[in-house]
Amino acid sequence: MSTGPVTEAATPVPGTSGWVRACALGELTDGGVRRAVLGADGPAVAVVRVGGLIHAVADRCSHQDFRLSEGEVVDGGLECPLHGALFDLRTGTPDGPPATRPVAVHAVAVRGEDVLVDPAASTVPVDGASTT
Ligand code: FES
Repeated sequence: MSTGPVTEAATPVPGTSGWVRACALGELTDGGVRRAVLGADGPAVAVVRVGGLIHAVADRCSHQDFRLSEGEVVDGGLECPLHGALFDLRTGTPDGPPATRPVAVHAVAVRGEDVLVDPAASTVPVDGASTT
């Protein structure tokens, strides 16, 4: 289930050393996906809640740059709506073609009611390598 993409120019959170508020915790339903832009020049991420865990991955499919925030949670992963590649939310790794490269994964923290994402802590996908 998707809550629909939301584009917002998030801003750094004071006292959190680079972490950016992506959305409010209450805006994420279980299985919901939201889009957030991490600062004026920051990356766009798809923020996903699955059970008690919140994940953030790059909002660009590694196949043809389609917005993953428009996808849905399937079997605990995020499915690209264009061609159906399913990305592991912990590693960014796709389940198979047509996507062959992982997407970047960002660190997430919850402070009070705020979901924070670290744009600088993203893993950089490398061809054929999984990220942790
Ligand atoms: S654009 Fe995502 S699988 Fe093709």
